[in-house]
Amino acid sequence: MDYKISIIGAGSWGSALARIVSDNGYQVLIYDINEDTVNEINTYHTNKSKLPNGTLNENVKATSNLKEAVAFGDIILLVVPTKVIRSVLEEVNKVITSKKIFVNASKGIEPQTFKRVSEITYEVIDNQYIESFVALTGPSHAEEVILQLLTVVAAASTNMEHAKLIQKIFSNQQYFRVYALDDLIGAELGGSLKNIIALASGIIDGLGYGDNAKAALVTRGLVEMSKLAVALGAKEQTLFGLTGLGDLVVTCFSEHSRNFQAGRKIAQGKDLNKTLSEMSMVVEGARSCEAAYVASKKYNVETPIIDAVYDIIYKQNHPQDVIKRLMKRSLKVE
Ligand SMILES: NC(=O)c1ccc[n+]([C@@H]2O[C@H](COP(=O)([O-])OP(=O)(O)OC[C@H]3O[C@@H](n4cnc5c(N)ncnc54)[C@H](O)[C@@H]3O)[C@@H](O)[C@H]2O)c1
Repeated sequence: MDYKISIIGAGSWGSALARIVSDNGYQVLIYDINEDTVNEINTYHTNKSKLPNGTLNENVKATSNLKEAVAFGDIILLVVPTKVIRSVLEEVNKVITSKKIFVNASKGIEPQTFKRVSEITYEVIDNQYIESFVALTGPSHAEEVILQLLTVVAAASTNMEHAKLIQKIFSNQQYFRVYALDDLIGAELGGSLKNIIALASGIIDGLGYGDNAKAALVTRGLVEMSKLAVALGAKEQTLFGLTGLGDLVVTCFSEHSRNFQAGRKIAQGKDLNKTLSEMSMVVEGARSCEAAYVASKKYNVETPIIDAVYDIIYKQNHPQDVIKRLMKRSLKVE
């Protein structure tokens, strides 16, 4: 079957994903509320404010009409910031009239409910219209993908047939390779929790600590991510794969990471809300931190790094004091 793909969200990641599937020969319609973005894509085949370098293929069309976008695709690819995902799905539910495969490429957890995007999708969309749900996630910066630089991610679903379908549609032999995975919970949580550790990575970078501190942060951060994810139903090994460790590494060490950049600004004394509003692109780690903090208490999982980030961004604790406190914790066996 010749699948058509509707992409909901023409930000940096939605545009980069449009590049991949159109390079792979699939028809794509991309939807966004921002009319300027839609017009720029249709007229110039670029999205300069989000991706100054790189272009979209000329056959990628954009629309600000959600009904048209939803009707177009057999696959609905969600790529809006997770803070609007529930409201966007509510709008989708009003106009959907046939069964679709839902694929999510956004990374975050809902703070009040600790729900993953798959759970929100099944809650909001009339289930007769959901063929299945697949998470497409892993170490991937849009700025590199739009330039066709080699990238490897995973497609995770409880339905392996559809994980493999998405793997096939997105993979090409030039620059984008997708692994298939059956642990949806682990993949969704890995992609969301790593953004909290990325904020911490930016904070220690902004405070002037070096590679030793960062290596320790990534290692102990991964332990926290996996303990919390396992408590919530993930398979431990998933957290050590592309969607966990892989994504954690790229986001903690890359200048492209908005979470890393936001952490660095917070360490330099900037207010969280000011920092987030100054950044032109979404910073998911702050919301995921709020969610993970509450969940860690509920499920009784010890998460000192997540707690530290929470204290810095939500209780305005000074980063240096929080680090001193972490260093004073009782000595442990690794
Ligand atoms: N940028 C990356 O490299 C990258 C990689 C992997 C995953 N992600 C994830 O993808 C998601 C989107 O990130 P991004 O970097 O593309 O964000 P972005 O800030 O570049 O773009 C978000 C887009 O969503 C649109 N939007 C906002 N509200 C909307 C609504 N109600 N309806 C329709 N469109 C709406 C905005 O107009 C904008 O075009 C995030 O969860 C992020 O973590 C990003």
